[in-house]
Amino acid sequence: MLLLGAIVLALPAAAGLTTALGLTAGASRARTAVMSMDGERVLVVGSINIDKFQRLEGGQAVFGKTPRSMLPVKGMTLPAASFLAAAGLSCDADDAEAMVLTMGGPFVEKTGGKGANAAAAAGQTFACEFIGNMGAVSVDANAAMLADLHAFGQVDVGRCSVLPDTATGTAYIMKYEDNDNAIVLVGGANHQWPDAAALRSGAEGADLRAAIDESVCVMLQREVPDHVNVVAAEYAHSVGVPVFVDVGGTDAPLDAALVPYITVLAPNESELAFISGVECTGADGKPEMGAVRRAVAALKEQFGAVGNAGVEVIVTMGGAGSVHFGAAWSADSCMLEGCTHEVHVGCFPLSTPNAKPKDTTGAGDCFRGSYVGARYGERRSVRESMRWAAAAGSLAVETEGAMVSMPTHEAIAERLTQPICQPATASLPPLEEVEDAVRKIALQPKPAESQQQ
Ligand SMILES: Nc1ncnc2c1ncn2[C@@H]1O[C@H](COP(=O)(O)OP(=O)(O)O)[C@@H](O)[C@H]1O
Ligand SMILES: [Mg+2]
Repeated sequence: MLLLGAIVLALPAAAGLTTALGLTAGASRARTAVMSMDGERVLVVGSINIDKFQRLEGGQAVFGKTPRSMLPVKGMTLPAASFLAAAGLSCDADDAEAMVLTMGGPFVEKTGGKGANAAAAAGQTFACEFIGNMGAVSVDANAAMLADLHAFGQVDVGRCSVLPDTATGTAYIMKYEDNDNAIVLVGGANHQWPDAAALRSGAEGADLRAAIDESVCVMLQREVPDHVNVVAAEYAHSVGVPVFVDVGGTDAPLDAALVPYITVLAPNESELAFISGVECTGADGKPEMGAVRRAVAALKEQFGAVGNAGVEVIVTMGGAGSVHFGAAWSADSCMLEGCTHEVHVGCFPLSTPNAKPKDTTGAGDCFRGSYVGARYGERRSVRESMRWAAAAGSLAVETEGAMVSMPTHEAIAERLTQPICQPATASLPPLEEVEDAVRKIALQPKPAESQQQ
């Protein structure tokens, strides 16, 4: 794989910058500029996407020149090949992305991708660098997206790459007449990184390794190939830089090769359920604390088996707030010491007219990016960092869109002065419930035992 090398960007100063969205962003913050002078920064490695929104007429989208019904894929988010198959459009798997790229508009384009969104959020809290890949085929969109990263988060993008003969990752977001949507993902450049050996020790990985050396924390998500995360995490671990992993981006299991190197694992409640195998919501569809503890206990077992029992877990639960399980947390200690290694943080009330979220897209990216900036950049305590992130997350759900909804440093600081709601999870469960959780975990056969049976 040939990289064109780091692109050199002549980005204008953030104040008054016109972004891809036609907005004028004045979000430049003296605070971040000052912090970056001593070179400290958080590093986000991951995906950047062109989000292409279009409204469907009669439930149809046009491919090439042919209108096709999108009714069979309503409500789904799928990669190109599965999407076309589900829509009943036959196509060679190798040609699927190319076929999706022929989709006709008109589109409204916005900058997205979990990596880029999290970087924009982190950059509002502390100096932040983003490393991701774009494709040379999407040259105009790339310039606009990098301008957005600069405008919304003052993010340093100087070590991003543009790959030849490839499109930038693209998410086609189709809105139906009843406001339901379908999303088809074209991985493009997000899926085309140098191989593990090159990243680990070759010239193509030199920028990544140097950026990790210069960072106070590396933040990863799962919209890029697993090997990128594994090599970044392994290298960060070897040089003593904490590794924060957002579980989102795919519903694949966690790569076992990544597990030993994770400092903090950060799922939302549904991601926690699928990576742990333990359902976390009660009959009312709300997260249930006993079940969340069982799920975290199951994860800690998995991590402990490869020598990483000290992993921290932060679970976000939408309007129910967030819980941090510390390095010393275990189901046993929870039973014996009363779950003292947990930090529960509630939510800030919303200032929308009906006090309900307007659009929850990007809330998690915002919370986690802000947490990383506060905890590892500003070195605040876990509780303070979670409160800061909750303030940021609450603002993000008040505005439509993902990156555009990332609040400024000043707005977060202002929200932090408001009273926060008690976390729904704060009351400790009765002791029997925890005992029950521990008993259930103890009853689960270990993999080696189950193989022998
Ligand atoms: N309705 C809400 N009111 C206030 N804060 C919210 C609301 N929804 C989300 N948040 C904040 O954003 C954080 C992340 O949201 P969540 O939905 O858990 O992430 P994800 O987008 O990954 O599902 C929450 O922990 C909370 O702090
Ligand atoms: Mg959620």
